[in-house]
Amino acid sequence: MRYSRKGLLALGLAATLLVLPACSKKNEPAGGGATEVEVFSWWSGPGEGEGLAALIEDFKKNNPNVTFTNAAVAGGSGTQARQALATRLLQGQPPDSYQLHAGKEAASDIKDGRLEDITYLYDQNGWKDKFPKGLMDNLTIDGKIYAVPVNIHRSNLLWFSPKKLTEWGIAAPPKTWSEFLTQAATLQAKGVKPISVGQTWTQMHLLENVLLGELGVPKYNGLWDGTTDWKSAEVVAALDTFKKIMAVAVVGTDDWQPTIDKVVAGTAAYNVMGDWAAGYLQGPKALKYKTDYDVVASPGTTGVYNFLSDSFTLPKNAPHKAAAEAWLKECASTTGQDLFNPKKGSVPARLDADKSKYTDYLAWALQEWQNPSTIIVGSLVHGVVANNAWKSEIEKAYGVFFTGKDSAKFGAAVSTAYGANK
Ligand code: GAL
Repeated sequence: MRYSRKGLLALGLAATLLVLPACSKKNEPAGGGATEVEVFSWWSGPGEGEGLAALIEDFKKNNPNVTFTNAAVAGGSGTQARQALATRLLQGQPPDSYQLHAGKEAASDIKDGRLEDITYLYDQNGWKDKFPKGLMDNLTIDGKIYAVPVNIHRSNLLWFSPKKLTEWGIAAPPKTWSEFLTQAATLQAKGVKPISVGQTWTQMHLLENVLLGELGVPKYNGLWDGTTDWKSAEVVAALDTFKKIMAVAVVGTDDWQPTIDKVVAGTAAYNVMGDWAAGYLQGPKALKYKTDYDVVASPGTTGVYNFLSDSFTLPKNAPHKAAAEAWLKECASTTGQDLFNPKKGSVPARLDADKSKYTDYLAWALQEWQNPSTIIVGSLVHGVVANNAWKSEIEKAYGVFFTGKDSAKFGAAVSTAYGANK
């Protein structure tokens, strides 16, 4: 999948052309629906929790009569949260709003009939031209919009400690994975683990970015639309490179925060993680950008933004619809986004946010995101490029690959699963 810069950032007219007649849905009368709200997410860990807390605080200020229940389920990338949510939805107990990734993950929930069409909120509040059109396309089916995006994250980032690299005699972070493997030998000789990974999703996060770096943009995009053959020699070679990287990694079972802590502590040299890491390093860890930590595009991906976007929804049968709408208004607001994103380590989804709030790493992120020559692709692990069924097959195949280490078999399994789920 590739989103042209023009497509993502197009304003005004283009978006207006897509506007369908406003739905006539009315707000629910105030009452039970407006006095409490339960919001479901996976933002409870350090860095993410602070971002959410800032948004909740502003919500409470704007809605003093609404009791807020933060139903966050711990666990990076929402692995546990999504399971808990699925159970609740099956039991007919939806929260008032839940976190969802823009892209194929959202499309899966929309097609499954889990979400209310909230186009009326976009119409009532004039939001339609406030977000990049390409992003909105990831939350829209048949002209109906189903969620409010709060941010844009970047997945393809390589984090390191500049001081430590100097100490180990490494002049600069690697620009390719082959260069990384050369550096790895030097680092290992010094007793340093070249790279840290943690729980399965963090390994797959590394994997998607190795595929991106090794295959390049057109072929990476082709992995998700069937035009790149997962069984081809070049994909198998990229999977073999991933295996070599994993062979020199310190592989833990931790979530992303303790995994990146290894880089800060100097027991590992690099970590590939999304820019929620900036929120964590800058916030709870109180580290300084460029001095205590630094970051570049992961090897082979300079100028490419592997994006994902968090959004919030109005589930069907939400018990407190009016308050849920108030929450969605908070999420969509410039003030809310400018309070949330600087702490979360993401750039705002809104086009009219206050740039001055984005400093250090985030100033660079915003510049890259808005640079017309940046190429935007979508993340697998964080919901953009694969529907839920296929993603879960890829996860299963990865489990087999992790133990069996058979790249050709992995490619073949993913290819077969695509055929069944496209
Ligand atoms: C992503 C999510 C981010 C961040 C990350 C780590 O899926 O979109 O906002 O929370 O997981 O937990």
